[in-house]
Amino acid sequence: MFICICNALSEADIDNCITECIKTDGCCKPLTVYQKFECGLQCGKCACEVEEMINDHHATPAASSSLEKA
Ligand code: FES
Repeated sequence: MFICICNALSEADIDNCITECIKTDGCCKPLTVYQKFECGLQCGKCACEVEEMINDHHATPAASSSLEKA
């Protein structure tokens, strides 16, 4: 499923990007996600969803890391 239609970014693409970003930088911001894919926010419809995904990752770091080990 595409979260960002303008940039053809799927939920899995964004999820992996957030996981990698948090692993390397300790945090992640919505604009960082777009920068990692070398694109930008266009229509803005996906911004809230991306922010929610980031918040979910920050809220459950143990769950995220246990999934990586599985
Ligand atoms: S859907 Fe992401 S910028 Fe338009």
